[in-house]
Amino acid sequence: MKGIVLAAGKGTRLYPMTKPVCKPLLPVYDKPLIYYPISILMQAGISDILVIVPPKETETFVSLLGDGGQYGVHISYAEQPVARGIADALLIGQEFVGGDRVCLVLGDNIFYAPTLGATLKRAAANDWGATVFGYWVEDPRPFGVVEFDKEGRAISIEEKPRYPKSNYIVPGLYFYDHQVMEIAQNLKPSARGELEITDVNLEYLRRGELRVIPLEKNFTWLDAGTADSLLCAAQTVKQIQDSTGRYVGCLEELGLYEGWISEEQVHAIGDELSMTLYGKYLQCL
Ligand code: G1P
Repeated sequence: MKGIVLAAGKGTRLYPMTKPVCKPLLPVYDKPLIYYPISILMQAGISDILVIVPPKETETFVSLLGDGGQYGVHISYAEQPVARGIADALLIGQEFVGGDRVCLVLGDNIFYAPTLGATLKRAAANDWGATVFGYWVEDPRPFGVVEFDKEGRAISIEEKPRYPKSNYIVPGLYFYDHQVMEIAQNLKPSARGELEITDVNLEYLRRGELRVIPLEKNFTWLDAGTADSLLCAAQTVKQIQDSTGRYVGCLEELGLYEGWISEEQVHAIGDELSMTLYGKYLQCL
């Protein structure tokens, strides 16, 4: 299975912060935002990753993440010339994905749960149809909203409905089988001029192949698109790290856990960063 991170948003809602530095590179507590969605793919067991970045930004991302070898993964890059919607990421990644299955994660989504790795691997193990997640929120209207039965079969899915049929929103993390490219190619732009990911999911629903994994109450989901949510994300990451003693989104640790890099490699990176708590954490792994 391949992984795509859509990190091409300009982050206009975060101006002036995102004038010189694009959103995925902003800090969330002690790491750049993009570490968190990459960590999601790694926890799903995915090591072949395409990062979609804003125009002319590839070099900046390469200077941070390189080819991913230091985490035991392979990272390649593509630019999204025009912001045409989330489903455009699938078209940009078409050649990269080939006939494989793919997991798409949004570059500003942060997930945390003690059982996250197991949940992600369960989703990645489904080899047909599409799998999305359902996250309970008080006000689902600004999101994709999904209704599903006890077996996790989707009943309806709507983008930003005025009258939501459920309180479960679909966070920016999607697992698709090989049918997704054919579905993405046939999409038409929505009223807001975007290729909607909800339309991709709707087509899977029509085919009877959209399943929903409800995220339990102990799941944390954050999207760091505004100054408030960015601050809240930073505070949440700090609070989790302080209370558990484990880092969230530590790519070197995840590479080690998956058996993609060795303890020696992680310690060497820790030595280089030993002036930081992050480096000291790596030295102790
Ligand atoms: C997008 C999707 C929406 C999803 C949300 C999650 O919304 O269209 O279905 O629930 O991401 O962050 P947007 O950020 O484009 O408003």
